[in-house]
Parts: sequence; C-alpha cells; structure tokens
Amino acid sequence: MAPIRLLLAAAVLLASCATAPHQSFQREDRLVISGASGLLGDAVIQRLIVRGVPVHDLILVTRRPEDLAVYARLGASVRFGDLNAPESLPAAYRGGTRLLLISPPPAPKGWPERNRTAFEAAVRAGIRRIVYTSILGADRDLGDSPQARHITADHLQTERYLEACGARWIILRNGFYLDGPRSGFVVDRAVEMARTSRAVVPYGERRLAPLTHLDLADAAAAALMGNFADSRIYELTGAQLVGMRDIAIATTAATGRAITVVDQGPDQQYSPTIPIGPIDMFPSMVTGDLQRLTGHGPTSLQEYIDAHRDEILARSGLAYSPR
Ligand SMILES: NC(=O)c1ccc[n+]([C@@H]2O[C@H](COP(=O)([O-])OP(=O)(O)OC[C@H]3O[C@@H](n4cnc5c(N)ncnc54)[C@H](OP(=O)(O)O)[C@@H]3O)[C@@H](O)[C@H]2O)c1
Repeated sequence: MAPIRLLLAAAVLLASCATAPHQSFQREDRLVISGASGLLGDAVIQRLIVRGVPVHDLILVTRRPEDLAVYARLGASVRFGDLNAPESLPAAYRGGTRLLLISPPPAPKGWPERNRTAFEAAVRAGIRRIVYTSILGADRDLGDSPQARHITADHLQTERYLEACGARWIILRNGFYLDGPRSGFVVDRAVEMARTSRAVVPYGERRLAPLTHLDLADAAAAALMGNFADSRIYELTGAQLVGMRDIAIATTAATGRAITVVDQGPDQQYSPTIPIGPIDMFPSMVTGDLQRLTGHGPTSLQEYIDAHRDEILARSGLAYSPR
C-alpha cells in the first residue's frame, strides 16, 4: 500500500476519530494482526494508527510480508504467519499481548480447528486478549444453501473454541460488506441502475444492513484497544436495511438520474447481472453495536453512494455535472 494512502486516510480520519469506550491499551501492549494484508487488515492498521497506537507496537502477521514493507519501514514488526502452517505461528505471535484474528476465507474441512490452533498458539505465546472477526448470523442457521450453513456453522464453532481458549475475548459478528476490492456491490448496482434507468426488486428480497470495511476495521481497532472486561459478542451492522429500491433512491439523489423501480411478482425469475455473494447467510437486522463500540455510527448508504458519484456517472456513461 502506498504511504500516501496511509497518510491521507490518517489525515481524513483523524478529524472524526472517536476514542474507544473503556480503552485500556497500555504502553507495554503489542498488538498482533493476523491477516494484516487483506482489505480488512489494511483498514484495521490504519484505524489503530489513527487511534494512537504507535506503529512500532504493531506485529503484522501475513502470508505475504513483502506486501506490508511500507509498515516495516515505518517501524512495525512484519512477520510471516499462515494458519495452514501452524508451525509458523509461535514465532509470528512472539512478544504480542493482544491478537486480532481476521477470519480467513472458508475452507471445506478443518477450518474451525485451524482457528483453534491459532488461539492456542497465541495463548502459549503469552497473549491474553483475543478479538475474532466472525459473521453476522453465526448463531442463526439462516443459510438457505448448504454452503451458507457450512460457513455459519464454522464461525460458530470457532467462537466456541475462542471462548474456551483461556484468553479474554471479543467476538465481532461482521455484517455484509458494503464495499469490496473495487467499489463493491452497491456501486456496481448503482452503475447498472443509472445506465438502464431501471431497478428490479426481486420478490421476497432479503434486505441487509451492509457496512464498510473501514467501519468494521474501526470496530476491530476499538475492540482490540478496549478493556475486554466483559468478554462479549458485538453484532455489527449498517444503519439501515438496504435493497434495490434503496439503492435506486440513493442513486437518483446522487446523480439526478430518474430510475424506475420494478417490483417482481412471486412467479418471476430474478436473474441478477451482478453477483453479490452468498447473502442468504446474513440476517436482515440493524443493531447499534458499532456505535456502542466505536462511538460513531456506520457510513450510510447515501454517504457511500455520494462518495462514489463520479465513478457511477463515469461508468454508467452519464455526463458529469459538477454540483
Ligand atoms: N462480512 C462479509 O460480508 C464478508 C464477505 C466476505 C468475506 N468475509 C470474511 O472477512 C474476511 C476478511 O475480509 P477481507 O475483505 O479483508 O478479505 P481479503 O481482502 O480477501 O483478505 C483475506 C484475509 O484472509 C487472510 N487469510 C487467508 N488465508 C489465510 C491463511 N492461510 N492464514 C492466515 N490468514 C489467511 C488474509 O491474510 P494475509 O493475506 O495477510 O495472509 C486476509 O486477511 C474474509 O477472509 C472472510 O472470512 C466477510
């Protein structure tokens, strides 16, 4: 990641930075981030720095240390660590006092046990506080597909292992991502709606309350720096349920483009042009847990779409009109 990106993010976020309630981060603490080079890991590093953690107190564990060379130059300890290579973990975690385990992508077999191995290695390394990124709905068995049921069951089992590992713990049940490697599914939808002037609402649509990686990263940073007094579960969601109609309304507000909303009937086939992932495992719910944990609410759908207005106009072929 370019240093300029880090500095910009820090400058922008500093103004809105809220300190974690019950913060207990101490000078002697060293924070281990497992999965530091992913999208969420990268955002967590930024939020920890913005919240005042000195870079040299960060131990960044990744399968690709070369991707985090910029943080090594700034003073962080960047180490190789791979949950599929448990022998790498003792050295990766050495000297850490707190661990954030960012859940790796799902695997067909033995996934919770690999996470348990990481928790145990952390405790053996002297880590006494662990935060784990689980998934919203881990305890609800909502998944309509076997794949979704498998993923939620694996997260729930991992939660059980964490609770039993001997460390104080916080579980973050993360809601559906609003953004992604590029701009994310909402912007993709908005582009399509602006291009065609049409939004199709599938019959029985499950509306979710998605939130950005940066909001989830801030929750992880706040949790990791907190006092862990009450090992507990946070269910992190966006501020509102979002469906096709909501995206259409926000897109019109941002771009001025009129969009006709078409509600499908029960016997109409819905064929999305843009895949958005296995949303059937996420419950349709809104909580205030992000606010409780971080002191601020999540980025709203309108704020997010407004921030991507120029991209939506450009990609949908609409003329740019400065506001
Ligand atoms: N809430 C949602 O909507 C949603 C959607 C998709 C995924 N997720 C979950 O959220 C996690 C983070 O999301 P993201 O957007 O940051 O994904 P991402 O950019 O694809 O990053 C994948 C993450 O998994 C880690 N990882 C992969 N294999 C690993 C291994 N063998 N050992 C240790 N770490 C490993 C990576 O760490 P390094 O590359 O640094 O080693 C990285 O942190 C995903 O892994 C997935 O479990 C949530």
